[in-house]
Amino acid sequence: MPAIRHGAKGAVISGWGTALPEKVVTNEELAATMDTSDEWIRSRTGIEERRVGGSTVGLSVESGRQALEMAGLDPSRIDALVLATTTPDKQWGTSAAVQNELGLFCGAFDVNAACTGFMYGLVTAHGLIAMGADRVLLIGTDTLSRITDWNDRATAPLFADGSGAVVLESVDGPGQMLGWDLDADGSALSILQSEVGGTIKMEGKEVFRRAVRIMVDSAEKSLAHAGVQIDDIKLVVPHQANIRIIRAACDRLGISIDRASVVIQRTGNTSSASIPLALADALDRGRIEHGDLLLLVGFGGGMTAASCVLRWGGGLE
Ligand code: COA
Repeated sequence: MPAIRHGAKGAVISGWGTALPEKVVTNEELAATMDTSDEWIRSRTGIEERRVGGSTVGLSVESGRQALEMAGLDPSRIDALVLATTTPDKQWGTSAAVQNELGLFCGAFDVNAACTGFMYGLVTAHGLIAMGADRVLLIGTDTLSRITDWNDRATAPLFADGSGAVVLESVDGPGQMLGWDLDADGSALSILQSEVGGTIKMEGKEVFRRAVRIMVDSAEKSLAHAGVQIDDIKLVVPHQANIRIIRAACDRLGISIDRASVVIQRTGNTSSASIPLALADALDRGRIEHGDLLLLVGFGGGMTAASCVLRWGGGLE
């Protein structure tokens, strides 16, 4: 990935929001309908419960509105809406519906890079700001429960629904993005996929094996582009697919899992929403301060991987 050409304008995140459906499905409830157990799901994945329900538009509007409120922005001031989702409500127009319901007057489009969608959207949003946009609303939302086979114990415990949003605003100078990386390896498409109208099919073990490798590879590229070391990172915000994947990736990167934001126990894998949900959780808990370096890193179907290093609040040293 090329080094960042710092132009006149960089970007910082000025607001964030989240949305989770009300309905909680616990591991015990799943165990009542299929041959699994709370103990198996907890120990193999770290998931204790997940949220299920709602639509991609509805959840996006909820998280997007919160992010706008926190940023103190009237919707009319947003220059572009980027909606990362792999579960649009309709073949097209999901982002346009969100644009309309939020009262935005700007371009709107979907980004689909499976569970890496938010990261692709984040890099895209920075690109829009480098090209002159002043305020971009980026939302990551997925309603994976709609494409999950609820009779398949190999996938049903993993996937769930949710949304996370951030407002990015232009600032003078370099902004928050210090380094980024986007990867894809289409030769691995078959190990995790969903046909149009179908449900998620997955070779779990193989996805696990590759996931750790591609997360670490991508993270190392972003660290190198940013010119920083893993020890400089205050907090890792990883895709929430399996606590064992997060742990293995942290081990290989040489950072304690205590320095990772983890929400998977209560959210499951919410795909495009997982990184913004984990980021918002860390922010809401006061785990991130101005000037901290963050490593955001994800992977997903495709297979895709992506990462970036952010200096929270932007600016130089
Ligand atoms: N409950 C109980 N047993 C289950 C089960 C469940 N929900 N799902 C699978 N099993 C069984 C298997 O049938 C297997 O039994 P066997 O040994 O008799 O054949 C055993 O548990 C072990 O299965 P295995 O697939 O080896 O488990 P695992 O440790 O690899 O964990 C995953 C399975 C799916 C949790 C794990 O591989 C994983 O998380 N992979 C990555 C998935 C992912 O991240 N997907 C999203 C990408 S964005």
